[in-house]
Amino acid sequence: MQNESETVVKSRTPLKYREFNIDQIRDDFPILKRTVNGKQLVYLDNAATTQKPQSVIDATTHYYTFENANIHRGLHFLSEVATESYEQARLKVKEYINAMSASEIIFVRGATEAINLLANTMCRAGIIGEGDEIIITEMEHHANIVPWQLMCERNKAKLKVVPIDDNGDIIVGEYDKLINDKTKLVSIVHISNALGTINPVKEIIKTAHSRGVPVIIDGSQAVQHQAVDVQELDCDFYVFSGHKMYGPTGIGILYGKTKMLENLPPYQGGGDMIRKVTFEKTTFDDLPNKFEAGTPNIAGGIGLGVAVDYLKSFNMSNIIKHEEELLNYATEKLLQIEGLRIIGNAKKKSSVVSFVIDGIHPYDIGTIIDTDGIAIRTGHHCTQPIMQRYNLPATARASFALYNTLEEVDKLVVGIKKVISMFK
Ligand SMILES: Cc1ncc(COP(=O)(O)O)c(C=O)c1O
Repeated sequence: MQNESETVVKSRTPLKYREFNIDQIRDDFPILKRTVNGKQLVYLDNAATTQKPQSVIDATTHYYTFENANIHRGLHFLSEVATESYEQARLKVKEYINAMSASEIIFVRGATEAINLLANTMCRAGIIGEGDEIIITEMEHHANIVPWQLMCERNKAKLKVVPIDDNGDIIVGEYDKLINDKTKLVSIVHISNALGTINPVKEIIKTAHSRGVPVIIDGSQAVQHQAVDVQELDCDFYVFSGHKMYGPTGIGILYGKTKMLENLPPYQGGGDMIRKVTFEKTTFDDLPNKFEAGTPNIAGGIGLGVAVDYLKSFNMSNIIKHEEELLNYATEKLLQIEGLRIIGNAKKKSSVVSFVIDGIHPYDIGTIIDTDGIAIRTGHHCTQPIMQRYNLPATARASFALYNTLEEVDKLVVGIKKVISMFK
């Protein structure tokens, strides 16, 4: 058994890039072989969650089959093996986003928990108080709106919102006007899940830092589509979810610069995050343990490490090229459909196409094409303020991952034309 564990851990590190062969890639994802409603599954809801490669599925099964034990606690063999696998995963994430140290990588449940952790602890650290301002944008996911609203209510702080233009680009000039001496934080999405907009985060961070304001980047839709280097970006915090980058659900990452994390109090109290507990006083452990109270999602963390291996097995520029081709092809084909309008035409876009069709509710589009095995998202995508901005109840959204094909885009187009013919 010892050998079994060691073999798996070692084989997770890729030695050279794989060829970008779409048939082989699709073979890695067992779910893509299944049918839905008697038709071959066409999965185009990747911004909600991505499918999992066999290696990730195997890694979580392997943990429960051969390594299951609590981490950081027992001095027995299995506990050491489990701890090693979990900490290896942290190291992999650290390398993937180029953090300075592994202790800057905090395991959380997902992007939502990471932002809640920051809102809660920044407030308790007194970083944001009465009359202070937090800047977000009009295109944030609810996960980057509601925690700040709750925090502002508690602390009598104010939320300021950078507007977007009709194309779905942030109006940078408005951001420059909003930021002032009262601004204590900027929190902004890297890539919009509803519009696909790739935001000029580096420029936004630079402006904030010139005024001494820290910046949180919500990278939930970025880490799986482009190379992210947190040191190069110079962001203070960067958050994302494992399940959108081919990893398991229930695991995500809060990255923070050491100094920033050290200045924050713990989020939750409990086992694993303490140095010494007496009834009079508790002292806390160093990073990252200070923020990781209780037994974590060990299998999820290990699975996320293998998802990182999977992404790193490709040259990222090949993923970008393939997804750009899907986006451009889908945009071109969809725009040829009469009455269809794409919502979100930013200068720089990631592989998300939100659209509406005259006279047909997005829910009807989604429901009808689902009968052909095509999975897209319909609704407000947890971005209700964007729907209000465009005066829409909802949109239909196709979002692509590295395993999607041009043929699947063709099936989407055929499906949409069928919907339109049914409503004529
Ligand atoms: C941009 C963005 N931020 C945050 C989230 C929240 O992610 P999670 O629900 O995994 O915490 C999502 C999920 O759709 C997202 O797309």
